[in-house]
Amino acid sequence: MKHLLSLEHLSAADMHAILKRVSAFKSRRADHARPLSGQTWAMIFSKSSTRTRVSFEVGIHELGGRPLFLNAGDIQLGRGEPIRDTARVLGRMVHGAVIRTYAQADVDEFARFSGIPTVNALTDEEHPCQILTDIYTFEERRGPITGKVVTFVGDGACNVPASWIWAAAKLGFELRIAAPPAYQPPAELLARAGGRVVCEADPLKAAAGADLLYTDVWVSMGREAEAEARLRELGAYQINAAVVQAAKPGALVMHCLPAYRGKEIDEATFEAHADTIFTQAENRLHVQKGILDWLVSV
Ligand code: CP
Ligand code: NVA
Repeated sequence: MKHLLSLEHLSAADMHAILKRVSAFKSRRADHARPLSGQTWAMIFSKSSTRTRVSFEVGIHELGGRPLFLNAGDIQLGRGEPIRDTARVLGRMVHGAVIRTYAQADVDEFARFSGIPTVNALTDEEHPCQILTDIYTFEERRGPITGKVVTFVGDGACNVPASWIWAAAKLGFELRIAAPPAYQPPAELLARAGGRVVCEADPLKAAAGADLLYTDVWVSMGREAEAEARLRELGAYQINAAVVQAAKPGALVMHCLPAYRGKEIDEATFEAHADTIFTQAENRLHVQKGILDWLVSV
């Protein structure tokens, strides 16, 4: 049984196996294979979503399956039914599950008890579908990411940089994280992942010669109570003209979205790189079809 629970548990070979399926799905959107034919996939979401929800609903449908969107607050899970019981019920009714929630342990538990392929559609700890898409988008424009330099600017301790850390270790590129000390990734994660990851307090130093500049919101879902402090403490960690100027000429700028202009990225930089950023958003659809196809293939 294959799952996509985290990039920690995906080998480089698995990542390549997923990414190599994507171009066929992207170029032949109307008449590609239908590996989910006759299947129903549950999508259990405890947090807001635009891109992930729509790309999985459309993707499951275009692969021949039926998406069943379940707002976690609308099912008995939201009234305290244990995850392991929800998992054992759904595992007898549907063919796969896509879950967005808070604790990584909850997605792992669902996978263990349901007996159906399970996808992490974002937890507090990781966002693997996003980072696989970002890598596909980078390689579509610039070739293999191995050996390149990726600089993340912003909250270096949230889910998105954590998935980048695992990707860097497995695919062999340099990852630099520009964040104040309190927003750098946990030392335990860095030690466990290995790879070339540099944490740096100065965003201009971190951006020097980078092939890709990347940012994410300063206030992740579930952290709203800390918003005021985060906006103050992360104020200097914005992708703007000075940061772009420090990077390699022609460096790509990406944002997983949603974007807050004037905070993690300024308006002019966002709009100058909007084509890359919205291609990145579109590619969620194509890459997640690759993920689903990989999950159900033997
Ligand atoms: N990037 C991303 O996951 O967007 P959503 O929160 O809209 O799904
Ligand atoms: N770090 C962000 C990612 C949003 C796609 C969050 O968790 O809210």
